[in-house]
Amino acid sequence: MPKNFIITIDGFSSCGKSTLAKQLARQLGFVYIDSGAMYRAITLYFLRNHIDWSNKASVIVALKDIQLHFQYNDKLEQSEMFLNGENVEYVIRDLVVAEKVSEVAAIPEVRSFAVHQQQLMGRKANTIMDGRDIGTTVFPNADLKIFMTADISVRVERRFKEMFEKNPNVTIEEVKANLEMRDYIDSNREVSPLRRAEDAILLDNTHITTDEQLDFALNLYKDKVIELEMASGR
Ligand code: DC
Repeated sequence: MPKNFIITIDGFSSCGKSTLAKQLARQLGFVYIDSGAMYRAITLYFLRNHIDWSNKASVIVALKDIQLHFQYNDKLEQSEMFLNGENVEYVIRDLVVAEKVSEVAAIPEVRSFAVHQQQLMGRKANTIMDGRDIGTTVFPNADLKIFMTADISVRVERRFKEMFEKNPNVTIEEVKANLEMRDYIDSNREVSPLRRAEDAILLDNTHITTDEQLDFALNLYKDKVIELEMASGR
């Protein structure tokens, strides 16, 4: 297998990108990086420290104080997001963060800060990274690119179930409004908007199970490995 194989998974909010990425990483022994968690952690820092993110200078100063890293949790078999040494994996999933994260992720300085770190992470190991601009901006030369989508009603239902388990006060209307708002901001921002890369393979999982989507992606991976081996004359 070629060194540092990179798989990118982009798509709308709550399409099941991270579910597929985690399954693939487990099966293939790749490192999984949740790029959205990085934008969420930056947003959490800004909220906690009352950073005025409409002010470019304040953003630049604040970013200097932010250190992000992922750490693998053996018990839960997943990597978790750390912000300045604190495990924030759960708190970054709150609606309070979800309501502001697209706004923060649209700031050019925030994007270059996160993209640079994501590119460094991808150099270290075979990697699967999910997000919005991974196949277009972070790793335009990735070996395999997948673009995921699903009907909005299915996405709302999935996200609502997930959030309701943590917070029974959350309503389906709130979840729907948040998803629609994030899709809109993510797709219409000036820097690296959410787009399907020309060479990304479309995966609509509205009517398929997680096992079926995993099979689909594993087959894409196998085909790609054969293609690369043939191209290198092996
Ligand atoms: O994948 P997620 O829902 O956890 O991502 C949270 C937000 O972060 C999402 O609304 C848009 C932003 N994001 C981004 O702009 N670029 C990425 N590569 C990943 C996420």
